[in-house]
Amino acid sequence: MATLSFELQHKDQKSNARAGVITTDHGEIQTPIFMPVGTVGSVKGVSQQLLQSDVKAQIILGNTYHLYLRPGTDVLEKAGGLHQFNHWDKPILTDSGGYQVFSLAGTRKIKEEGVTFQSHIDGSKHLFTPEKVMDIQRSIGGDIIMAFDECPPGGSDYGYAHKSMELTHRWLDRCFTQFNATPDKYGYTQNLFPIVQGGTFKDLRKQSCEYIASKDAPGNAIGGLSVGEPEPVMYEICDWCCQHLPQQKPRYLMGVGTPWNILECIGLGIDMFDCVMPTRNGRNAMLFTTQGVINIDNKKWEFDFSPIDEALPCEMSQYYSKSYLRHLFKAKELLALTIASVHNLSFYLWLVGEARKHIVTGDYASWKEEMVLKLKTRL
Ligand code: GUN
Repeated sequence: MATLSFELQHKDQKSNARAGVITTDHGEIQTPIFMPVGTVGSVKGVSQQLLQSDVKAQIILGNTYHLYLRPGTDVLEKAGGLHQFNHWDKPILTDSGGYQVFSLAGTRKIKEEGVTFQSHIDGSKHLFTPEKVMDIQRSIGGDIIMAFDECPPGGSDYGYAHKSMELTHRWLDRCFTQFNATPDKYGYTQNLFPIVQGGTFKDLRKQSCEYIASKDAPGNAIGGLSVGEPEPVMYEICDWCCQHLPQQKPRYLMGVGTPWNILECIGLGIDMFDCVMPTRNGRNAMLFTTQGVINIDNKKWEFDFSPIDEALPCEMSQYYSKSYLRHLFKAKELLALTIASVHNLSFYLWLVGEARKHIVTGDYASWKEEMVLKLKTRL
């Protein structure tokens, strides 16, 4: 059993896009990759079978905050870890809760030691420290686990972003100390990724990238983006961070984004993405397709018996018509949520797969320009 490795296979000549392969003890991941979000150990509305057969997911996400509150580490440990518990035998990445504590939990207090917060489920009080978050992620058993960070709110001023970044760095040291002092629990290797913070300030971001890079971790993440800043600012900071993070390690942009955000950020040098958008927006009748964006609730689709998206290698997208899916949404049928989520996830996985092909053939930059325009079209 071995530490995660990353083989860079192709670099685009006209952009910073890369194609590579990440190898974990639960198998390989072809990059660039999109990782469906399975917050509580389940991708909402989508079975593990569909994730494999239709979506063709290579890695899924779980969440420390949610899994700690429910079902709890005692259940996960007894099950033999999350892979055994949810029957997903490919790679899993867990986020640290460093984001959810700030976005979901009730009254919370940030101190040097960690964060006290109230559960969004029953109001119970808890303390997350870097050490505790490492222990919880050891019990969950993700192949990739994330450092405990503070993600400052969008629009934070320089002073706040600076203090928050320094706290994140001190927490990072504690994460590595704890991680290195505790063994893998389930016979395969877990890998700790640090997270760059620093708000929208380039000097802080550079400092954070350099600090994170000094840890020589098997991969690095960029956090604190897509939190309300304008899109051009997000791209500028992402580009800047890619320039200051190691070339030879995978780069993971957390919580981003729309299909066009993903194509732009692949062009800047990002290898891994996750976002709730394909599932959450899908449950709200918003479909991303190879021709553009559809609101399937719209009357326009009432008599459209064409497949949801013929061009996708996904059975559900080819099998069911727009008219039928609209009807399921109108009738509030549960199947609507599954079809929309499977379709959107399949589209995201198809998109990163196509991106990879174009990086390999060498025309990524021109293909991306065309695709971004097409994908933004409102149908
Ligand atoms: N998900 C999206 N953004 C972030 C971030 O800044 N930190 C963490 N831990 N998770 C995220």
